[in-house]
Amino acid sequence: MKKAIISGICILLPLVIWTAGCKKETIDPRTWEPVALNVPKGWPEPAYTFANNKLTWEGFTLGRKLFYDVRFSRDSTVSCGSCHQQFASFAHAGHDLSHGVDDRLGTRNSPSLANMAWHSSFFWDGGVNNLENQPINPIQNPLEMDLPITEAVNRIAADAVYKAHFKRAFGDETINSQRIFKAMAQFMGIMVSADSRYDKHERNETGGTFDTHEERGLTLFRQHCAACHKEPLFSDFSFRNNGLAPAIVMTDSGRARITGDMADMYKFKVPSLRNIAITQPYMHDGRVRTLEDAVEHYRTGVYATVTTDPLVKDGINLTDDDKKDIVAFLKTLTDSTFINNPLFAEPGQ
Ligand code: HEC
Ligand code: HEC
Repeated sequence: MKKAIISGICILLPLVIWTAGCKKETIDPRTWEPVALNVPKGWPEPAYTFANNKLTWEGFTLGRKLFYDVRFSRDSTVSCGSCHQQFASFAHAGHDLSHGVDDRLGTRNSPSLANMAWHSSFFWDGGVNNLENQPINPIQNPLEMDLPITEAVNRIAADAVYKAHFKRAFGDETINSQRIFKAMAQFMGIMVSADSRYDKHERNETGGTFDTHEERGLTLFRQHCAACHKEPLFSDFSFRNNGLAPAIVMTDSGRARITGDMADMYKFKVPSLRNIAITQPYMHDGRVRTLEDAVEHYRTGVYATVTTDPLVKDGINLTDDDKKDIVAFLKTLTDSTFINNPLFAEPGQ
């Protein structure tokens, strides 16, 4: 029935909008399949529950289309997916700082978007606390997409194909920023990564075998790292100062930027370490290039200030073998099912 309406629009409108719009649109063969947020066994309840944003296949596929649409940037060169690439667990591969329109350099490293539904706050400083309010920031940020939100809405609303999508997703053709953000939240909200070798290991499944180094790495990780990088999400989502020396140029005060509280200076949201082997470079400003160097930071690189976390203040005592084994363990967190899942890939045009 709905399919008939869409094809109806495609037949009736071509003269007005030129056939390109409709021809380009490929309706996913899995149209109107049920979609759900699958909470993996043993995981806590997600923070984002879709309570005010009913999750549907139509909403999800609209969100996906929007996520990959370059029209959200001033010069139509950058989409959300430019800085959040699936093969890099939706981080920005190889970029220490994000690159926006005109190749403008941002101030922070683009984080992975895996398991967003479990995050209680967003950005390195937790400046946004609802997944639905998040996209306005990159769209309007002059260093990222640099487009006033009203202009972004106008561009989307001028597209007849989008009108059909919004009708499918929300019941009528109204296109506004709230609906755009809700659809994007449907797409990002069900990006669950829970099928790494580590997960199989924990579930005692085939494919979950660890060698002695990985096994030892896991034990060491639980001893030294898991207090902050808490399993199974590998973050407790608190704000901490892990002892990075404050940058001399463009000092980033972190959480204190939001709270105005000096006690929050240089504290950042504890990042999840899921898929960490494919999201390099590391830390909020991408200053650390390799996993070896990230672990080395905790061993010899901690710069103590008054807000440095007591757990790392004096450095973490690790031998060379300990370091190697922790790195071996971190590599088991790569989830190839997630990064190859066609559900999250850019839809065919
Ligand atoms: C120019 C690169 C760039 C573009 C384009 C971009 N982002 Fe981001 N994204 C980032 C960076 C950098 C951060 C971290 C910003 C910060 O902490 O201040 C981020 C953070 C996020 C977060 C929070 C992640 C977390 O762990 O807290 C989400 C969600 C997100 N982006 C989604 C989007 C969506 C949706 C779009 C498109 C509307 C988008 N991004 C466009 C670079 C980008
Ligand atoms: C006191 C809490 C705490 C402890 C303990 C801790 N970390 Fe971290 N970790 C953080 C915070 C906070 C960040 C982000 C810091 C920043 O970018 O400013 C971070 C960042 C990282 C990153 C970079 C992640 C990314 O996406 O860029 C890696 C890798 C990492 N930690 C690994 C470890 C390992 C391995 C251990 C144990 C040896 C460990 N951490 C112990 C809090 C902690």
